[in-house]
Amino acid sequence: METSENLPVKRIGVLTSGGDAPGMNAAVRSIVRAAIDEGFEVFGIKDGFLGLHQDRFVSLDRACVNDIITRGGTFLGTARFTAFKEESIRAEAIENLKKHKIDALITIGGDGTYTGALRLHEMGVKCIGVPASIDNDVHGTEYSIGFDTASNNIMQNMDRLRDTSSSHHRVTIIEVMGRHCGDLAVIGGIAGGADYIITPEAEFKKESLFSKVSQAFVSGKRHALICLCENIINAETLASELECTTGIECRATVLGHIQRGGSPSAMDRVLASQLGCYAVKLIAAGEYGKCVGIENNRLIATDIVEAINTPKKTKVTDYIHLSSKIS
Ligand code: F6P
Repeated sequence: METSENLPVKRIGVLTSGGDAPGMNAAVRSIVRAAIDEGFEVFGIKDGFLGLHQDRFVSLDRACVNDIITRGGTFLGTARFTAFKEESIRAEAIENLKKHKIDALITIGGDGTYTGALRLHEMGVKCIGVPASIDNDVHGTEYSIGFDTASNNIMQNMDRLRDTSSSHHRVTIIEVMGRHCGDLAVIGGIAGGADYIITPEAEFKKESLFSKVSQAFVSGKRHALICLCENIINAETLASELECTTGIECRATVLGHIQRGGSPSAMDRVLASQLGCYAVKLIAAGEYGKCVGIENNRLIATDIVEAINTPKKTKVTDYIHLSSKIS
């Protein structure tokens, strides 16, 4: 970008990218208000990096973000824009930033969004990443925006499944998201009282699960809930194999995108508000190429290269033992 390192930032851009997460709106709201307080102008970019490339910028003032704290999803829109991997596409996007005289960009999203931000940073754009992903799989923060709400969604749906599972004396499998991270399964599963939790972090042994379920029913258990992280085994296949092997009736529910929607929890609204303000504070202090996060209740900033290249310490290691003790 033409903007010199020394020139003060006057105008910032903000976008949301990748899978939407409840609390993204709360983050945009806090960014807009904190930025205006700093004397910056703010532009929202529609549909993430796609809108950046297609030159879809909208001016945001305080009123534009009225009432969005309660809304799930992202009012700016989002997209998975794989073409952003191409340098020529990014160069065209950077031209749009220059055209709108944007001095710094805040990108809200998960690991894919961070990668996009890193590539822009390498091309001279002043970027700050804000972690928002229900998967909770990005390094540099203990919690990502959206994870708490999605965990609550899982818990509430498990409560419903429990009613029908217990009435029919069935085993019920609930498949949850997480991509390759078991945090949603472990936290949502513990909160929902799952008897068994299957995550990518531990080797999945089908036979061992079947024999545990059989033994539990022999000892008097009347129904069971299994919380399964996606991308390990097909939930329907697991249900029919379990039923064939144990003789216990089994049903599978894939929770899907229901768990990603809905009004953000108090935790997510507060986290988003803190992280949004902190992102603006870093820009005001002239710090870029970083991702904001929270660790032990303190706001932290991590170099974006480190954030992308370091595997996230998952919650699974801390909580899975609890799950086996109370199931
Ligand atoms: O990354 C968030 C996430 O919800 C994952 O848990 C899931 O695997 C994926 O997005 C689904 O993506 P899409 O909404 O593009 O189908």
